[in-house]
Amino acid sequence: MPRHAAVTGWGHYAPEKVLTNRDLEGMLDTSDEWIRTRTGICERRIAAHDETTSTMCAIAAQRALDKAHMAAIDLDLIICATTTPDTLMPATACLVQDSIGAANAGAFDLNTACTGFVYGLVMASQFIQSGAYDRVLVVGGETLSRFLNWQDRTTCILFGDGAGAVVLEATEDESGLLSFVLGSQGSGGPLLTIAGGGAAKPASPETVAAGDHYLYMRGNEIFKFAVRSMVQAAGEALTKAGLTQEDVRVVVPHQANVRILRATQEALGLPWESVFVNVDRYGNTSAASVGIALSECADLGMLRPGDNLLFIAFGGGLTWASAVMRWADVDAIVAAREESPNVI
Ligand code: UT7
Repeated sequence: MPRHAAVTGWGHYAPEKVLTNRDLEGMLDTSDEWIRTRTGICERRIAAHDETTSTMCAIAAQRALDKAHMAAIDLDLIICATTTPDTLMPATACLVQDSIGAANAGAFDLNTACTGFVYGLVMASQFIQSGAYDRVLVVGGETLSRFLNWQDRTTCILFGDGAGAVVLEATEDESGLLSFVLGSQGSGGPLLTIAGGGAAKPASPETVAAGDHYLYMRGNEIFKFAVRSMVQAAGEALTKAGLTQEDVRVVVPHQANVRILRATQEALGLPWESVFVNVDRYGNTSAASVGIALSECADLGMLRPGDNLLFIAFGGGLTWASAVMRWADVDAIVAAREESPNVI
């Protein structure tokens, strides 16, 4: 019997504190008008002092488990996508594992910046399709606000904090990932980087004085790369899945800039209505963004069994990713599991 990896639970968490463009106007030389027209962002969420990537991920993860009617103890693996881990070591995935009580799960972090959630979906699906594991949690979370230079208007207005999670489980249902494309171009790494605090530039008074612990970005160059790479990857992923643009019901993209989404949608010839957008409310939440977007789509009832979803993302690394997923009959899979918990 072929094994597929279906999403059967989803959840997201965004901190309570809202930072609006108007708030930013009072902090630095920018304007609501500039931010809205250049990015589409109206507001973003900022983690409270006692919140971190792992605490936000744990809430999103628990929500995903609740939705799937699954206990944390039944998870085989936790993959946490993040660029802003609580600590360099231990992995944030291990902190999430402890927090939700997933005593039988392996756990590791994945860092491909803004493409992290899509990379995580692909990786989780491989573990399940190969027969190695039955139930995998993918969570993406970021506390980017702690790595921003709040005096640098070219970066700090763009990003926000939050987390998104999904539970994937083995099923014989014809659902889950149909195809994927992952790419990287390390030569572009310096275009988007947090250079300090690693082995190349260990934290020191000099690195702090130079601001090396802050996110640095060449936005213009990333913009062009983003459109080019997502258009190409999405086209390849659709071809691999044997589908065309007309077969796609919902596009779940990385939420960085509404102009990037528009340019990508136009180049791909997809209707704008099929592209899910929430960058206006959250800004760019990097590895969390696709997870939050997917969770919101599902909460809104936009995804029906058999629908084809197209994921597209780009980010630091540089990296890019696209995947096509067929949405499962979630209620049927959950009901079947609850009836005979040990079968698959
Ligand atoms: O997930 C991956 C992360 N990276 C991204 O998603 C970034 C992708 N890039 C972008 O989204 C866009 O390049 C930005 C939104 C970052 C910038 O938009 P842009 O249209 O490429 O603007 P620009 O960088 O060419 O700057 C235009 C002008 C400059 O002024 P001058 O040199 O023309 O006088 C900037 O100094 O806008 C100025 N500017 C601002 N003005 C007001 C830059 N940031 C701001 C700001 N408020 N916050």
